[in-house]
Amino acid sequence: MPKITVDGSEYEVADGRTILQALDDLGVLMNGVDIPHYCWHPKLSIDGSCRLCQVEIEGIPKLQIACNTPIADGMKIHTQSERVASAREGVMELLLVNHPLDCPICDQAGECKLQDYAFEYGAEHSRTQEPRRAAKKRVDLGPTIVFDQERCILCRRCVRFCREVPGTSELAVFARGDHSVIETFPEMPLSNDYSMNVADICPVGALTTKDFRFKIRVWFLEDVPGVCTGCSNGCNVHLGVANNRVYRYTPRRNDAVNQTWLCDEGRLTYKRINADDRIDAAAVRNAGGILEAVPYDRALDAAAARIRRVIETKGAGAVGMLVSPHATNEDLAVARRFLDAIGSTQAGFALVHGRKDELLIKEEKAANAAGARGMGFEDAAPLLERVRGGAVEALVVMGQDVLAPAYASGRSALEGVDTLVLLDTHRSHLEALAHVVLPVRHAAEKHGTLTNVAGLVQTVEPAVEPAFEARAEGEVLWRLGQLLGLRGFEQPFVAARAASGPLGHRAEA
Ligand code: SF4
Ligand code: SF4
Ligand code: FES
Repeated sequence: MPKITVDGSEYEVADGRTILQALDDLGVLMNGVDIPHYCWHPKLSIDGSCRLCQVEIEGIPKLQIACNTPIADGMKIHTQSERVASAREGVMELLLVNHPLDCPICDQAGECKLQDYAFEYGAEHSRTQEPRRAAKKRVDLGPTIVFDQERCILCRRCVRFCREVPGTSELAVFARGDHSVIETFPEMPLSNDYSMNVADICPVGALTTKDFRFKIRVWFLEDVPGVCTGCSNGCNVHLGVANNRVYRYTPRRNDAVNQTWLCDEGRLTYKRINADDRIDAAAVRNAGGILEAVPYDRALDAAAARIRRVIETKGAGAVGMLVSPHATNEDLAVARRFLDAIGSTQAGFALVHGRKDELLIKEEKAANAAGARGMGFEDAAPLLERVRGGAVEALVVMGQDVLAPAYASGRSALEGVDTLVLLDTHRSHLEALAHVVLPVRHAAEKHGTLTNVAGLVQTVEPAVEPAFEARAEGEVLWRLGQLLGLRGFEQPFVAARAASGPLGHRAEA
């Protein structure tokens, strides 16, 4: 492997890479080796247009752009020399000549590369007094994105993204010279399935999402790592959290899962966390047939009493469980343990299917379908048939995927069961059938692991706390197991989790 020296430190790099690519591969770009860059992006083709990434290479008289200069064995690169600093200052001055400098009202302020690099590498004062070029503000590019022409530095990342990632090519550079502008083609709004990624990769405040703009200043947000639960791809996200509320998802780079992208639909699933239709209280159906809000422990007692009655009168085989492919592996391990302890094999999981593509979007619309399969759960259809046939009298149902059209023929069977204990995050028609309702936590509110479609086990940690009493499915089932006196459920739930053994499943990747 070729060796290069950057600012006196030697690195061994892969052959056939440019300087920026090689440093990015090593994880040191802007993380030990600072070569500021605008037009270069690790997942897009090289443009070489902004000229900010210039470096000095021994033996080459002129400065070279690091994004498009292939490495060679023995290359000695300087990123902090006076010549480099002066070139960066010149590029920054040029970029700022026509920039509106409206940072106080710009939604990108706080995460803007123009701000950051102007501070780090630019001049302290502007030498121009001429009026700045006026251009269009608030251009509606499509259903998701608003464009500010004045702020654009023409790095063309957005153009290359549309051409190279979704392959839809809605954006292009129109006109020439200092009249150049980014625009959509006539009758062709920016509306692909990944459109909001252009706001992430735009290094300035030119492209912003309609969903997030002006909601909150970014410096109030804490980026908490998490996983999108919109489909089985398990894209890595940052949850932007402030005041115990999630304001947005942005992509978290993982080259093995989602590179640096998110689909628009998945990106907006953060809204489910703070949604108005969250089930916010435990409830038990009273003698009058009305669901009545009760303390959580009373609902657990009621559920355990109903399940116990079915076991005593009909046997353990009359108790079934429809687990959720949205639950964590740890929740599902407790579900498996619960069923084994009572001696029932009546189990399955319902799963919503939908559109897929070749990039990220997967057909299975749940984050842990692979985990459910790995835990030995099968599709819900056979279980629903057995419920319809009267073999199951008490059913614990996690989530509402059973309401999907695919299960329409079987789910009417749920109306006939003696006991339906519902563990769910959001309101649905299932509440009308449930005898006991227990609010549970969203993946953004609990610890655990999720197995994606490729078998990668990924960890989730709580980013926010629910504003009401809600527990993870595993904890609910553990408590039920204790109330039923099941063997293996003797320890308190927290102690059992700390001991790790009883939950049975540990993350491996
Ligand atoms: S809109 Fe943003 S990403 Fe697109 S060319 Fe302008 S600065 Fe670059
Ligand atoms: S592809 Fe799937 S996991 Fe990725 S962002 Fe979209 S919905 Fe979420
Ligand atoms: S990042 Fe190299 S020229 Fe723009």
